[in-house]
Amino acid sequence: MTMYFGVLILTELILLGLILHIVSYKGLTKSQKSWYIITFAAIMFCALAEYAVHCGYYDYKWAVPLTILTVVQFSVAPLLSVLFAGALGLKSQALSAILVFGLNLVIEASSAPFGSIFYFDKDGYHRGILFIAYQILYLLSLAYLIISMCVVGRKFKHRDVITIIMIPVIIVAGIIPMTVAKIHITYLSIAMCAALCYIYYNDLVQQDIKAALVKEKETVTRIQEHTILGLSNLIENRDMETGEHITRTSAYVKRLALCARENNVYKDIIDDTFVSRLYSLSPMHDIGKIIVSDRILRKPGRLTPEEYEEMKKHAEAGGRIVREVLSGITDEDYVSFAADIATYHHEHWDGTGYPKGLMNNEIPLSARIMAIADVYDALVSKRCYKEPMSKEDALYEIEIESGTHFDPNLVEIALKHPEIFDEN
Ligand code: C2E
Ligand code: SIN
Ligand code: SIN
Ligand code: FE
Ligand code: FE
Repeated sequence: MTMYFGVLILTELILLGLILHIVSYKGLTKSQKSWYIITFAAIMFCALAEYAVHCGYYDYKWAVPLTILTVVQFSVAPLLSVLFAGALGLKSQALSAILVFGLNLVIEASSAPFGSIFYFDKDGYHRGILFIAYQILYLLSLAYLIISMCVVGRKFKHRDVITIIMIPVIIVAGIIPMTVAKIHITYLSIAMCAALCYIYYNDLVQQDIKAALVKEKETVTRIQEHTILGLSNLIENRDMETGEHITRTSAYVKRLALCARENNVYKDIIDDTFVSRLYSLSPMHDIGKIIVSDRILRKPGRLTPEEYEEMKKHAEAGGRIVREVLSGITDEDYVSFAADIATYHHEHWDGTGYPKGLMNNEIPLSARIMAIADVYDALVSKRCYKEPMSKEDALYEIEIESGTHFDPNLVEIALKHPEIFDEN
């Protein structure tokens, strides 16, 4: 009996722990919480009632209250699976719960005076000749629980079949010692299953929430990239015949960055986030040209010094516009990354660029990479003010500007890997 008492305490504590967890847990709806709490409380009650009946300090004068207690216990036990189905989110369980409980109660209560399912005599509790009726109800209820779990499992595309199989296994492992050797671990195994079901269901729900979040984030990213591209194309089309400058330069910056990393150049800065940001944000580099008048932007010949000063404002303006467009809709790191490219893509390695005249590593790496891709593409393209250059001549221009206009470490990579500038 001391062993039995230990099992009872353990069972009650497990269930108490579960109830306390549910009370403070935020991931469940109110109705699910209620179902779980009712289920666990019902198991607590059954375990306690069973102990009261079998504990050994039996006195015949308690036969009537113990009979009533057992009637209630035998009515509740097969009901557990219905309660569980409710907790697992299956609808209309309340009605079935009341019906099953009512039916059980009628069967148990009407047979109690005849002692056909169980009875008490001077020695205590005994199974009646119709105890099998209770066992059948109990097995039906187990079957019901398994079906419910399969239904829930289907809803979650059977991601966790093992748990569904383990539940009946554990319950059967609890019933067999009870039936064979009167070892009272039935409700301990039921409590274990309750915990397992609870974890199983919550895990599936959490997995789905996570998957939904990832999907949503992907959608937002796609919208963002679309907006950036659309906006950049709009500006670019004012400037040039097509928006292909954008497509090409974002391919170049990405390949140049990856190539640098492979050759151990700036490999600490160039992580995957860096590359993907560079690729998706480089289209905004010339967005500041929106403030430049058509007369200057589309001027067929050389710009006067005044016009060029006007033109140079596109860098700083671009940084400002990028901040205005992106702030609030995405995180600050991302905004700064985009603003750096727009603001500093005309800075020169030797400090003679604009708008700030930054030097060497003061210029963000993203902007240094952008500068090479931007100039290369400007050189090989036809502009309203110039004719296109050959690929070889363009690379030669870049080579002679290494260390003056461009970061020499990056130029070295670009010259070693001219395939960076292949179209498509
Ligand atoms: P863009 O046409 O996209 O050119 C970007 C950068 O490529 C230029 O920045 C410059 O560094 C380089 N680049 C372009 N063409 C040549 C070239 O023929 N030779 C050499 N060595 N480098 C070249 P930059 O100079 O700061 O110009 C910024 C923007 O100002 C240009 O963007 C373009 O829109 C405009 N721009 C510059 N010069 C002229 C010009 O003479 N006439 C007109 N209409 N626009 C100009
Ligand atoms: C129970 O009390 O739940 C079962 C009693 C028995 O198996 O006889
Ligand atoms: C139980 O009610 O705990 C077990 C039923 C049975 O012994 O079959
Ligand atoms: Fe520019
Ligand atoms: Fe450009």
